[in-house]
Amino acid sequence: MFRLEKKNFKNKLELYEYMNNMLKHLISDETDAIANLSNAASLFGHIMPEINWAGFYLYRNNELVLGPFWGKPACTRITMGEGVCGTAAKFQKVQLVDNVDLFPGHIACDSASKSEIVLPIVKDGKLKAVLDIDSPILARFNQEDKKGLLKAIDILQSINWDMI
Ligand code: SME
Repeated sequence: MFRLEKKNFKNKLELYEYMNNMLKHLISDETDAIANLSNAASLFGHIMPEINWAGFYLYRNNELVLGPFWGKPACTRITMGEGVCGTAAKFQKVQLVDNVDLFPGHIACDSASKSEIVLPIVKDGKLKAVLDIDSPILARFNQEDKKGLLKAIDILQSINWDMI
């Protein structure tokens, strides 16, 4: 049985090592992509400190549609190039935003969000989704978060993206 322990981490490296090992374990015996993304979002939400939203926007018919997430209800559709998620999707490039109020076109789903990181998920050269993580604290995310979350996305490459 899977157990999510409350743990204190020495640093971000240790946190991401723990989180990514759990992620591998969580998705290892399940073939359903939505089930796996749901557990991934829940895991991120429970393990990462000082965040208020973690989830996926799925790439469908040239737009982003809300997928599995942890946190408050959010906007359901995002146009390519719009806001932080749409920018990450359009350019297939990680967006690390210290202050969302200064990001042109930022979509404020939750006014509590102050900083965010969005990572595109690309498989075989095709955009599949973006992973969006928001924080109520300014400049919550740095290069260490980017590195740890890129590893998580690497692990998520193995899920059945054809189902999405
Ligand atoms: N902040 C995002 C919108 C999605 S929500 O925050 C969940 C953006 O500007 O892309």
